[in-house]
Amino acid sequence: MYRMAFYLKLVINMIFYTFKNHPELEKRVAQYLGGDEGSFDDKVFKNGEYYLKINDNAGGKKIIVLAILKDFQDEIFKLLFLLNALKSNKASKVVLMMPYFPYSRQDRVNEPGEAISVELMANLFSSAGADKIFTIDIHNHKGLGKAKKHVKNILDWDLMVGMILRKIDSSWVIVAPDKGAKKRVDYFAKALKINEVAYLKKHRPEAGKTEIKELVGASVRDKKVIIVDDMIDTGGTLIAAANFLRDQGARQISAAATHGLFSDGALEKINLSILKSVYVTDTLPIDSHASGKLEVIEINELIQEALKKYV
Ligand code: R5P
Repeated sequence: MYRMAFYLKLVINMIFYTFKNHPELEKRVAQYLGGDEGSFDDKVFKNGEYYLKINDNAGGKKIIVLAILKDFQDEIFKLLFLLNALKSNKASKVVLMMPYFPYSRQDRVNEPGEAISVELMANLFSSAGADKIFTIDIHNHKGLGKAKKHVKNILDWDLMVGMILRKIDSSWVIVAPDKGAKKRVDYFAKALKINEVAYLKKHRPEAGKTEIKELVGASVRDKKVIIVDDMIDTGGTLIAAANFLRDQGARQISAAATHGLFSDGALEKINLSILKSVYVTDTLPIDSHASGKLEVIEINELIQEALKKYV
């Protein structure tokens, strides 16, 4: 009885906000959390500036913001204003859950003069009002620099391992499409009991263009191959890798990635490609009907697990 009363007290003291971009996932997490759903109004002034107002009394409440953003440029501003409004209204704790961390691709200076966007974003979310930030499988946690202390990276590669374990066997070759994916691929190979691992040497002659130079490691000739990466954005890396592996004699090629951004016609490219299956999680909303090759793995339990101590 005491436990029930205690639980109800916590639930009543929590408000959950979403950006309504990923209805299925947002609904599942809301049902799990059980608290009130908050809302906010926003508009754009004639001069282009944003305005945002929360419609709830956040004072003394625990807040969970599930920020699955679609239109990064606009929604990042809305998110910053939301965090600020919550903190200004004296929320007791603001927890930001961002399954995909926007602007995480630029995580180091490759050429003098470049901004490190991922670190800046983490600092902005934190100074706007997020006391704790969760994300899933961020591109490079180290790239956050000093802002690393604000961000907890949930790295559950076993979720995807569990999904593809049923689809492949130890005769397959597992391939990293670039140096950055090497650690991930080594982990997957061990978990999937695959001995044959290869890495591709990738070169970007300019932003958005991908060239594969070389295959290092196991031969893919007459083999079934799975490419493993953190994200598919334009699909440039994936398609270039798949074509290269086909030219090296691979018999069948599939791919797995945590985040499916699918910008710039990536799904059409995948549909037209030699790829057989593409496994992605639903950290971002995905229209699985847009490609018969897609298999989507749900991550709501991962989110719930991370948030459970806040409900
Ligand atoms: C690169 O470092 C990443 O791990 C991905 O390979 C890359 O971001 C995918 O982008 P795209 O699909 O546009 O090639």
